[in-house]
Amino acid sequence: MLRGIVGFVKRNEGERMKLNSKTLKILSREHENILKVIDALELEIEQLKNKDIDTIFFKKVIDFIRNYVDKFHHAKEEDILFKEFNKCAEEGCIHCNPVEQMLFEHDEGRKSVKMMELGMDEREKNKLIEGARNYIQLIREHIYKEDNILYPMADEALSEDVQKTMLEKFNKINFAKKKQVEGFEKFANEMSEK
Ligand SMILES: [Fe+2]
Ligand SMILES: [Fe+2]
Repeated sequence: MLRGIVGFVKRNEGERMKLNSKTLKILSREHENILKVIDALELEIEQLKNKDIDTIFFKKVIDFIRNYVDKFHHAKEEDILFKEFNKCAEEGCIHCNPVEQMLFEHDEGRKSVKMMELGMDEREKNKLIEGARNYIQLIREHIYKEDNILYPMADEALSEDVQKTMLEKFNKINFAKKKQVEGFEKFANEMSEK
């Protein structure tokens, strides 16, 4: 549904929509960490034609994508935010519901990461590059849509009570995964200094 809205997406921090909800601000801050790793991945891919596959680097990036992006960030979106968004849409508070497209993109991302992993394991540079390029483009556009379309819609549409319940659930998850998440955020910051 949103595929046509964003044709060419270039990240621009200054253009990001302002959010009031603490819950959505948490998710948007996680996007910033994800984009730091994605920028480093893009740099590595650009240089890959002239060097060997740095398995340690790619294993760390794939681990970050699977455990931070997917099992931490996407899990909160899928299990908490999107469910509340769908409920709200069913009650008629939103006319256009982008959740289905967002779920589709989460799945497409998983396929691209699998391709990256296969390319790395089989030492097939072209497969690794294709998987990584697909993932980079997909996740940048996905994040842009969430930051500028879905999150602002949720910010407007979800009631304060719902926002409060979501925040409590987020805090529980963030507390339970505190150590692991701190490690991933440190990794993202190191990547941004690369
Ligand atoms: Fe998402
Ligand atoms: Fe997201």
